[in-house]
Amino acid sequence: MTTLLGPAPLTAPRVSGDLPGPRSTALLAHQERWESNARTYPRHLPIALAEGSGSFVRDVDGNVFIDFLAGAGVLSLGHNHPELVRAVRHQLDSLTHGLDFPTPAKDAFTQAQLSMLAPEPRERTRLHFCGPTGANAVEAAIKLCKIATGRGDIISFQGAFHGSTHATMALSGPVSQKAPVRDGMPGVHFFPYTASDQDVGSVSGADLLEQALRDSDGGIPPPAAVIMEMVQGEGGNFVARTDFVRKVREVTRSLGIPLIVDEVQTGCGRTGTWFAYQQYGIEPDVIVASKALSGIGLPVALILYDTALDTWAPGAHIGTFRGNQLAFAAGVETVRVIRRDGILGNVRRQGDRIADRLAGLTRDPWVRQVRGRGLMWGIELADPRDGRPATEVAAAVQHHALRHGLIVERGGRGDAVVRLLPPLNVTAEVVDMACSILVDAVSAGAGRSPVR
Ligand SMILES: Cc1ncc(COP(=O)(O)O)c(C=O)c1O
Repeated sequence: MTTLLGPAPLTAPRVSGDLPGPRSTALLAHQERWESNARTYPRHLPIALAEGSGSFVRDVDGNVFIDFLAGAGVLSLGHNHPELVRAVRHQLDSLTHGLDFPTPAKDAFTQAQLSMLAPEPRERTRLHFCGPTGANAVEAAIKLCKIATGRGDIISFQGAFHGSTHATMALSGPVSQKAPVRDGMPGVHFFPYTASDQDVGSVSGADLLEQALRDSDGGIPPPAAVIMEMVQGEGGNFVARTDFVRKVREVTRSLGIPLIVDEVQTGCGRTGTWFAYQQYGIEPDVIVASKALSGIGLPVALILYDTALDTWAPGAHIGTFRGNQLAFAAGVETVRVIRRDGILGNVRRQGDRIADRLAGLTRDPWVRQVRGRGLMWGIELADPRDGRPATEVAAAVQHHALRHGLIVERGGRGDAVVRLLPPLNVTAEVVDMACSILVDAVSAGAGRSPVR
């Protein structure tokens, strides 16, 4: 909607008429005509986007939504944060692309990234700027470890998601995505992921890992690396159990296996600390970071790793788009604003608020669990009769939420986990609006099921 003073500010959701509206319908039809069958988000969220501001986005028909997808966790300070926009505009006037030459913007960005680490690991850390996606940085991490150790096998965890390239798919859990792509990267072994909802003291994936790796006949040669997420985001928002993570670290350290933590989704403050591993009292050998690094959706990805692994040769992981100066400028500003505005504290406070607002949902027989950390939340829907993923109920919840002005994504097994990834500077007011839409959506979505 446009007023005499310009577009109305985006402060509350407002959806009128059917979705998609007429303009969205036209653009979605163009997309269907010209784009690949592999496109994803608009299949579940059938809207065409026009503009965004903070936690809100407006579609081309003038409908306003709370955006709790936030570019799949990329927009840490929401859409078009004015200070980030200003930093990008300023950088535009001097340099936009710099390959891997040093530049003032890159140097400031490097220092901003290092400032997130504790002093001791910081001194031992090296950075490599990768091609601008999370998957490219995961590829770099496994290449680094393979080269440094001279070994070939990699250990990953069930339910993991590390990307959509050929090798990162091999490291990921979803079998249906891997099955049609024959001859994936060999030498990947999966162990169970132990989430915080499993009883402390029960056998963890790390116990099984240790057993296999210490057994001379365990079937797995000493691997080049173990890769893990602290919260499996795409896998359904499972938060790792503390003793599981610590034991993985203990075992890998004692056997001389580099530990890669994939913080593509959990990094840059998403769980309430700069990196999620910092809540587990461990130090990894390699950190993979991407998504929220620029805070405004400009692509950038990197790995931070122990200098002892830095044995690869010049040019071992190259890529044309490793020097996005606009992303660097925005990223420096993101870190500054997060510190200045105490946004890590906001992540923890709003995370607690979401937990509180959604706690009552578990009384619904279709809600198996509400779980999360910081500003990564998931509502898992399961059929109360047999415990299977309630895919259709989750789809109905997502649809109902969209109809009422809230964008949320789904993930996990059977896409039955409704996922929330709000901007890190989301306000209590917006959290309340979103949660009340969600509570209604769950009751409407589950209400359609035969068990009620
Ligand atoms: C943990 C994790 N690793 C890697 C990736 C892949 O990142 P990208 O989509 O930028 O390649 C994702 C994407 O969601 C992710 O969540």
